Amino acid sequence: MKQLFAICLTGLLIQFCSSPKKEEVENKEYPVLQTMGYYQRFSHKLWLAGTNQNWELANFYVHELEEVTEDLIKNDVIDEGKNLSNLSESLLKEKIEKMEEAVRLKDQVIFRENYELMVSGCNLCHQATNHPYLKIKVPDEKDVFNQKFE
Ligand code: HEC
Repeated sequence: MKQLFAICLTGLLIQFCSSPKKEEVENKEYPVLQTMGYYQRFSHKLWLAGTNQNWELANFYVHELEEVTEDLIKNDVIDEGKNLSNLSESLLKEKIEKMEEAVRLKDQVIFRENYELMVSGCNLCHQATNHPYLKIKVPDEKDVFNQKFE
């Protein structure tokens, strides 16, 4: 009986120590890089749509950005020790909402101002997560991407 108890206890301990918590597994599996690819693509297209005054299209892309952000926030994503969910909640969420507002108002000036603000949110998080060389910018003629390469 004692022996059986010991075996059971050992079994439980092994299981407890070796199986990672569910959350950790999910965090590792969260496609952070894919999320960033979406961020870059959608934010660039949002700029092109807005500066062309195609507000219907801009509205589509601002909602895609919002969805990507909501997904990141609700999944408790820890990447290289940084809580990306909390960071995106504090650094980016509100700035995307401001973009949405600009699109709703169909106002070029507010659109440009809020876009810059949103880009600063992207960069603040890149700095906070030790990727200061990932510099997002307002799109221009110089680069194919809305990113600084020099
Ligand atoms: C919550 C923090 C956070 C926010 C907010 C954030 N990023 Fe990132 N980004 C990261 C991290 C972390 C990496 C590195 C991922 C890796 O190492 O796999 C990254 C990587 C990237 C990359 C490099 C990968 C590639 O596809 O070239 C780009 C581009 C990028 N982010 C764009 C953006 C844009 C655009 C925004 C804003 C709309 C943004 N990011 C907002 C944390 C963030």
